[in-house]
Amino acid sequence: MKVPLTVNGTDEVVEARPMAPLSELLRDGLELKGTKRGCETGKCGACTVLVDGKATKSCQRLAGQAAESTVVTIEGLAKHAGDDDDLHPVQQGFIDNFGMQCGYCTPGMAMAAVALLEENPNPTRTEIQEGIKGNLCRCTGYTKIYDSILDAAAQVEDTTIESSASGD
Ligand code: FES
Ligand code: FES
Repeated sequence: MKVPLTVNGTDEVVEARPMAPLSELLRDGLELKGTKRGCETGKCGACTVLVDGKATKSCQRLAGQAAESTVVTIEGLAKHAGDDDDLHPVQQGFIDNFGMQCGYCTPGMAMAAVALLEENPNPTRTEIQEGIKGNLCRCTGYTKIYDSILDAAAQVEDTTIESSASGD
């Protein structure tokens, strides 16, 4: 079947198997391999993307259910932040704070963090812990991940303060 949807700002019509998950459509139909396959049972969060602004485990959403939706994957995150050239503050936060080791969980973590910060731009460490509890990491022990997201929140806050000071 053909699934019309918008992915990373581009309108697409993608051929998908009737019972294919959205993760398959993204990875195999659009070659967006940043969305990872982990457990494929909704437990690890490696496949998390934004669907209509909500963090969504794409292995648990049928491709057909995503028809007419707006999807953002890790590949489109810089553009989602408004500037293709710069990384999203969450991506920069993970780099600056060593928030990854093998990196397998990182795209899903980052997308969950973006959704969290869009809902709560100034979260506490506990709120971050709660907000990304559906995303599992086997490597980092989470401390650096929480540091990364706290740093990203501070970067977003700085940008907001600067643009309101300059009247943008
Ligand atoms: S691969 Fe989707 S939750 Fe694990
Ligand atoms: S960095 Fe390896 S699973 Fe998270």
